[in-house]
Amino acid sequence: MSVSSFVVAIDGPAGAGKSTLAKKVADRLGMRYLDTGALYRVMAYSLHADGILPEEGTEIEKALTNLSVQIVENGLLLNGKDVGKEIRSPLVDSIVSSYAALPAVRKHLLSLQREQGQKGALVADGRDMGTVVFPDAAVKIFLTASDEIRANRRLLELRERGEAVSYEEVLLTIRERDKTDSERSAAPLRKADGAIEVNTDGLTIEDAAELLAAIISERKRSVAGR
Ligand code: DC
Repeated sequence: MSVSSFVVAIDGPAGAGKSTLAKKVADRLGMRYLDTGALYRVMAYSLHADGILPEEGTEIEKALTNLSVQIVENGLLLNGKDVGKEIRSPLVDSIVSSYAALPAVRKHLLSLQREQGQKGALVADGRDMGTVVFPDAAVKIFLTASDEIRANRRLLELRERGEAVSYEEVLLTIRERDKTDSERSAAPLRKADGAIEVNTDGLTIEDAAELLAAIISERKRSVAGR
């Protein structure tokens, strides 16, 4: 395997700390970072804004042909517009899983994600990185944490952004998303074969980043030494 195709696939349920950690570790190790949850959020945001419900199969397929998502240096562009803020709202939190369960939506995003893996060393986080998108990833990590800890982390994040939400609402949304993400038939959330499971419950972000960086660096050394 060449160094340019060294991919780290990080999967796990909502709020396990995937995006924060993946970004941190990518920065630390000089790798690029891909937040695939953001891609699904853009899809959900755009389809919902156009009034297209997840159950409208043919309409969805049609809408997808007019929908362009671009990955740029600092995030994503939807038909040329930065919607980074809009896709993190409680509304998108509550609808995204239903759109992400649709095979047409997943297919639309597959090549875009794989192209990123061909552009150089990459840390990618999502639900199906190690199982579907990058099944040959050099490192596969399955990040978990208890429901309550994940809800608390998400609550803090939303409140920091000025959203008025309660702990109970956030916990419920997280549990509903986990259920939809794990029970769907298209690329369900599950631990990939060969993935290393890391539970972040008792770890600070720094400790968890340290642990992941050590796992990845060790693997890099062993790939380089082949
Ligand atoms: O990681 P996140 O919370 O931003 O992800 C938003 C939603 O997108 C999540 O509920 C499931 C879906 N998703 C997915 O189905 N596959 C991925 N690779 C990433 C996210």
